[in-house]
Amino acid sequence: LASIDVDLAPVEEGQAITVMWRGKPIFIRHRTAEEVEAAKDVKLADLPDQLARNANLADTAPATDENRAAADKEPWLVMIGICTHLGCIPQGQAVGSYKGEYGGWYCPCHGSQYDTAGRIRKGPAPENMYIPPYAFTSDTKIKIG
Ligand code: FES
Repeated sequence: LASIDVDLAPVEEGQAITVMWRGKPIFIRHRTAEEVEAAKDVKLADLPDQLARNANLADTAPATDENRAAADKEPWLVMIGICTHLGCIPQGQAVGSYKGEYGGWYCPCHGSQYDTAGRIRKGPAPENMYIPPYAFTSDTKIKIG
């Protein structure tokens, strides 16, 4: 299966980019310290979906912020930008776009709200947005797939 390399050097804190991988949008956000803190402050028991949904971890890994973020690079969140309800593409990537009540992403199709770790918090989506297989290949580059 095809993999892609992405250079993250130009993506400053607070910015996000979207790349395509195997026909799917991949949301990459360089989260601010506030966004990371907001995600870490959430108790697992308050999450509708308590699994990390991270292809790089065991299927049973809990949805902590550490398990959602890049390994050892917690500001970075890399995930498949597809709503787990019926597959729309949530808003929140573009500068100034509505990020929803939890500061992450908002799906305009039926109102699902995701937090700054891409976890579903409110609305009909049953699962957190999925983390694809990827790894950092240098300080500023990742390989997805
Ligand atoms: Fe996103 Fe229905 S497809 S809320």
